Amino acid sequence: MGTYNIPEIARNVFSVGSKDWNRRMFDSLIPLPEGTSYNSYLVKGEKKTALIDTVNPGFEEELEVKINMVSDLKKLDYLIMNHAEPDHANAIQFILEKAPDALFVTTEKGVKMARLYHKLPDSRIKTIAEGDSLDLGGKTLRFIEAPWLHWPETMFTYLPEDKVLFPCDFFGAHTAHGTYDEDIEEIIPLAKRYYGEIMMPFGKMGDRALEKIKGLDIETIAPSHGPVYKNPKRIMDQYDKWTAGKTENKALIVYVSMWGSTREMVRTIAETLLKEGVDVRMYDLAVSDIGDVARELVDSRAIILGTPTVLAGMHPLALYGTYLVKALKPPARYGVVLGSFGWGGGALRQAGDILTPSNMEVVGTLQVKGRAKDEDLKKIEEIGRQLAQKMKT
Ligand code: FEO
Repeated sequence: MGTYNIPEIARNVFSVGSKDWNRRMFDSLIPLPEGTSYNSYLVKGEKKTALIDTVNPGFEEELEVKINMVSDLKKLDYLIMNHAEPDHANAIQFILEKAPDALFVTTEKGVKMARLYHKLPDSRIKTIAEGDSLDLGGKTLRFIEAPWLHWPETMFTYLPEDKVLFPCDFFGAHTAHGTYDEDIEEIIPLAKRYYGEIMMPFGKMGDRALEKIKGLDIETIAPSHGPVYKNPKRIMDQYDKWTAGKTENKALIVYVSMWGSTREMVRTIAETLLKEGVDVRMYDLAVSDIGDVARELVDSRAIILGTPTVLAGMHPLALYGTYLVKALKPPARYGVVLGSFGWGGGALRQAGDILTPSNMEVVGTLQVKGRAKDEDLKKIEEIGRQLAQKMKT
């Protein structure tokens, strides 16, 4: 059976999920430089026991062993599903088979989503709604619907006696490192990156969820990825800013360059912005981790795209980056598009087509043939100064 570390995150509340140290990609989209964890929590009341969420495919047996180290899986009473995505819900059938009396507890929307992936007998389902609760004996589980964070069925579970909130993906961070939030300085950039990748398109729903939980007395936040927060105010304060779309005086430059011409153009605007006191983050899309870009999108006030024209359109990597920027719905207020071409343009037009409609004001665009001449670079400096001026207001 081996040894497992099973943190007791509150009295009789055990973290029984798994760390996936070497996973490096999520959803075939999101790079995971520090792996991730699939947190599952066992709550033992005086009369009943509940499991909140399960684990990713491949970790079912580890979950079984851990539950049996602190309880008896066969006697589990409830399996709570906060979210149907398979990284948390994949072991539903496995658990229901091992725990013959356990009821599967989730919202109506949760049942519909879970049925897309799992066979669930009607007799095992207990449907709950906003504000409902389950009495475990000395411990109560209260349910809070939090739709679209980040799937339609998501909900939070709250344990008032121990002041623990289980918000599933919300407040999460993809990292296998750490159990608690002692190293908050290391966790916040990861949580921000996670927010940018997963939650940012649903910022308004996040704002609503924060309002809903503001009245709760919360001492511990136990998300489904990353460390447990024992000082939840710090992550909640960050989420307050992020969901409200508060930006910094910061410009994010994402670019691709084949022969250095576009690079020279974005370097020129970067230097101008730095001179004007703007914080600049620059990423070459050919070599960058897209998660870093997502993190910077969370609070950048301006986005500058640089792309050469390839076969009458944007460079494919710039096309991918632009599509992601649009889909992630960042709060940036200003945009600039720069690029170069050899014989026929097209990249700028395509960027405009993709980014329209958008809430961003396009402060300037410039497309040059071949290398940027001195007069082109002067135009870029002027665009940079105008952008810096606007960003201050
Ligand atoms: Fe971590 Fe949306 O699943």
